[in-house]
Amino acid sequence: MNEPSDGLSIIVVGASGNLARKKVLPALFALYCQGYLPERFHVFGFARSKLSRPEFRSRIMEHLTCRYTPSHSCTQRMEEFLDRCHYMSGSYGSRDSLLDLLTMMREVEGGRRTNRFYYLAIPPTIFLDVARAIGDAGLVSCSADQPWSRVVLEKPFGRDRKSSDELTRALSQVFVEEQTYRIDHYLGKEVIQNLMVLRFANLVFEPIWNREFIRSVQIVWKEDIGVEGRGGYFDRYGIIRDVMQNHLVQILALVAMEPPGLLDAENIAAEKVKVLRSVPPLELEDLVVGQYSESVVGGRRFPAYVQEETVPDDSITPTFAAARLRINNPRWDGVPFLIKAGKGLDARMTEIRIQFREVPGNMFCRSGGCPEANELVIRVQPDEAIYLSIVNKVPGMGMALRSSNLDLRYKVAFGEQIPDAYESLLLDVIRGDRSLFIRSDELQAAWDIFTPVLHEIERRKLVPEPYEFGSGGPASAGKIDIVTMWG
Ligand SMILES: NC(=O)c1ccc[n+]([C@@H]2O[C@H](COP(=O)([O-])OP(=O)(O)OC[C@H]3O[C@@H](n4cnc5c(N)ncnc54)[C@H](OP(=O)(O)O)[C@@H]3O)[C@@H](O)[C@H]2O)c1
Repeated sequence: MNEPSDGLSIIVVGASGNLARKKVLPALFALYCQGYLPERFHVFGFARSKLSRPEFRSRIMEHLTCRYTPSHSCTQRMEEFLDRCHYMSGSYGSRDSLLDLLTMMREVEGGRRTNRFYYLAIPPTIFLDVARAIGDAGLVSCSADQPWSRVVLEKPFGRDRKSSDELTRALSQVFVEEQTYRIDHYLGKEVIQNLMVLRFANLVFEPIWNREFIRSVQIVWKEDIGVEGRGGYFDRYGIIRDVMQNHLVQILALVAMEPPGLLDAENIAAEKVKVLRSVPPLELEDLVVGQYSESVVGGRRFPAYVQEETVPDDSITPTFAAARLRINNPRWDGVPFLIKAGKGLDARMTEIRIQFREVPGNMFCRSGGCPEANELVIRVQPDEAIYLSIVNKVPGMGMALRSSNLDLRYKVAFGEQIPDAYESLLLDVIRGDRSLFIRSDELQAAWDIFTPVLHEIERRKLVPEPYEFGSGGPASAGKIDIVTMWG
């Protein structure tokens, strides 16, 4: 529990890195500007890089924005925030380094009751060393009457079910499950947070949200850039582990789950786990994998994946995947869930498309065919929006029909600043709300869907189908789109 007078120390491990500078620290500044941080809060950056405090602060400042503060007072707010930022360099796995950090924290905290959370913005290979060193240095409190300690972890959580379980087990020696916040920043996005509201607070959707009325569900994630200098990391994981097993499966769970008994973290996670356990493991015949090849778009040359720096010349890591999943439960039996993710494609976009069935015995069917079925499109990014395509009579003489969109664009409808996902998730960590974080059994269920096929791909050394950078993906991906197979 947070006491009103509690202080807060936020320890960003890997503070010299991209994630810390571009996402975590700017999100903390945004929370500070909106008055969400307690009176006594301090940020402690920790990494190996030898940075002076002014150097650390000037690195942070580069990415702070004045979104929530009028520009005349923004500089002052930045200075106040930067005044609370401290830095210490040390070795990640070293208890002594963390004891030095503890000494610094104690001085700044002034012996007063202070909650602490550790944000591990570091490569997964060193998660465990860091967690153990934090534990060994006595930086974690577990008792209910002491200030709380929490840890935030970034994906990837392992490479398959076994390694993920090992990581969970080892981490639990230091932080118990209730202290562990596994972040999937897609869950913090406004449109994703709205999914449960859309489904369960509107009478028009829930009664038709099932196999009787829905023909297929597509969840599409596209990026129009390559690996952009992160080839070393990406090549070890590939698109299935990097995007499908976490972001897309989390979205699928929210689209498909039953209503939770209560709107709390445990009840929501229980429903997500239940629906994920109804998804049989993906099979190779329901999967297409691709890898982007060199191309020239608008006169500019884009290198192939294997030409990217830090990617081996003979890499067969997929940068694209399209998969057909099914959910064996009474609500969804026979409805294909098509999930697609790719880098180096023709657009940057994430959306969910719910395609409804045709009207039975439709009186408007003519020799030329029937009017299009309704479709609900939920655009997660960019330009958050919800569209519902409906069939209308085109104004004028005669009876021409056309599908048009009922169109809810967030910027037009709400006009307000849409918070960055990290802002909302970090605030949840401070408040102790785990609803938007991944519980260990959710993680297991998600890995169970993909682990067999990932091992099969590796065992067979499956060569991904090439597709040109900037295109719509490999030609065979169309085979996954044929929803009529089960429709
Ligand atoms: N960037 C993103 O938007 C993003 C999104 C989702 C998930 N993630 C995950 O978040 C974590 C951090 O991301 P990031 O982009 O900030 O990573 P990063 O810049 O590669 O690494 C963060 C810091 O960790 C230290 N480090 C890097 N490689 C290391 C190694 N081999 N051994 C020990 N220390 C090492 C470096 O600090 P020092 O050298 O100063 O110690 C570096 O500044 C990763 O696990 C990543 O997968 C990142």
